Amino acid sequence: MNQIIVALDVDSRAEALRLVGQLRQRVGLFKVGSQLFTAEGPELVREIVRQGEKVFLDLKFHDIPNTVGKAVAAAARLGVSMLTLHTAGGLKMLSAAVAAVNRLPAAVERPLLLGVTVLTSLADEDLAQVGVDAGAALQVSRLAGLAEEAGLGGIVASPEELGPLRRQLGSALKIVTPGIRPAGSDLNDQSRIATPAAALRAGADYLVIGRPITASSDPPASLEKILSKL
Ligand code: C5P
Repeated sequence: MNQIIVALDVDSRAEALRLVGQLRQRVGLFKVGSQLFTAEGPELVREIVRQGEKVFLDLKFHDIPNTVGKAVAAAARLGVSMLTLHTAGGLKMLSAAVAAVNRLPAAVERPLLLGVTVLTSLADEDLAQVGVDAGAALQVSRLAGLAEEAGLGGIVASPEELGPLRRQLGSALKIVTPGIRPAGSDLNDQSRIATPAAALRAGADYLVIGRPITASSDPPASLEKILSKL
């Protein structure tokens, strides 16, 4: 089922590769974020790609346009299929990322660039503290518009943002949705959640699922249970 992205939020190469071995060919992509990338670096990404799996590099780039453009090109050379960048970095930064992808040699796979809008950990008060007086909902919509204008391939959106964003963006941009919890599973620290089927119905193209699979005593069985209900 290639709409499922498993978040490899673990500390070591051994744990990550064990999960890849158990789940490979049943999921679309494996997400490597700051935790695992900081611990194990690009060699682990190359290894997962060498094993024939697709990688979503979730490092949320946010820097000056030149640096982000070069980081995007470096990620593409690692062989990643998707990567994230903060839309708050501005139109010039986002456009530099798109230009970097367009300049890649034909032999290099062009990664899908995904914009992060407002982190779901930020409430309206947190945004006000950093000078954003628009509430989160308006800011998400504004930043999603910027992602579209820059020509990104998609955005990351929480389940509750899915409906409004799908209406705003139409079907041209892919929407990747974390905060997915199968019915009856532990919420962990997530609060705004949806079941896998509900998120797909609301317009998600890809679902990011971490602990409901990776922290289970039987990850392949947990994955199969999720797939059976889609
Ligand atoms: O374990 P869980 O299913 O909660 O993992 C969700 C993954 O999605 C984590 O890697 C987390 O960092 C990421 N994520 C999220 N909420 C966002 C953006 C990313 O949970 N708004």
